Amino acid sequence: MTGLIAAIDTTDPQRARALATAIAPSCGMLKLGLEFFLANGSDGVRLIDDRPVFLDLKLHDIPNTVAGGVRAILPLRPALLTIHASGGSAMIAAAREAAEAAGAERPKILAVTVLTSLGSEALHATGVAGGGRQQVLRLARLALAAGADGLVCSPLEVSMLRDALGEGPVLVVPGIRPAGADKGDQARTLTPREAADAGATWLVVGRPITAAADPAAAAAAIAAEIA
Ligand code: C5P
Repeated sequence: MTGLIAAIDTTDPQRARALATAIAPSCGMLKLGLEFFLANGSDGVRLIDDRPVFLDLKLHDIPNTVAGGVRAILPLRPALLTIHASGGSAMIAAAREAAEAAGAERPKILAVTVLTSLGSEALHATGVAGGGRQQVLRLARLALAAGADGLVCSPLEVSMLRDALGEGPVLVVPGIRPAGADKGDQARTLTPREAADAGATWLVVGRPITAAADPAAAAAAIAAEIA
């Protein structure tokens, strides 16, 4: 079963709350990212925390600081939280250990491998030899071995990661566009059904829902497509 996460990319908490309420019947979770969190902080998250929340903060620092960051947001009870796999094993393990303090209701730790905005040339310039997919797989294995519960990945990586890693990891997948939808700045997309069939655990969909004339109907259509 694949679930739907709506990405609420706004700095306006009232708009976020209105969107959250409108799409609640069709979305299992809401994603709040850096933009929302830096503008509104924990109080902003609390405003809409009657829904499970995916806090997409992509933490990346020394292990002690990342652990402190995770502990600081545990009172918000996020269901999912992102860190950068390139922070290394000790940082990932520290994030997981800090999350464990919340017990059974702890946030699941998701690792971001290679940012999809990095093409092969840009990745090479950061010192990574070899292809992007190879680096995605290397960081994915490292993250899971260090205690990450899952990964954020591009739709075009889902099959490769499922083949290599099995059914265990949570795979959270942005870059989703319903057939015929405007792609915006997303270059490599799959439709909701294609990504679900490839093995995604959660689909992250932003503008096709939030910029629709009727966000509730747009979310319901996507939920129906993956049901
Ligand atoms: O509007 P759209 O559906 O493109 O939004 C996708 C969401 O997923 C945005 O919040 C974006 O920041 C996020 N995301 C992404 N690609 C990644 C990682 C995160 O689009 N590789």
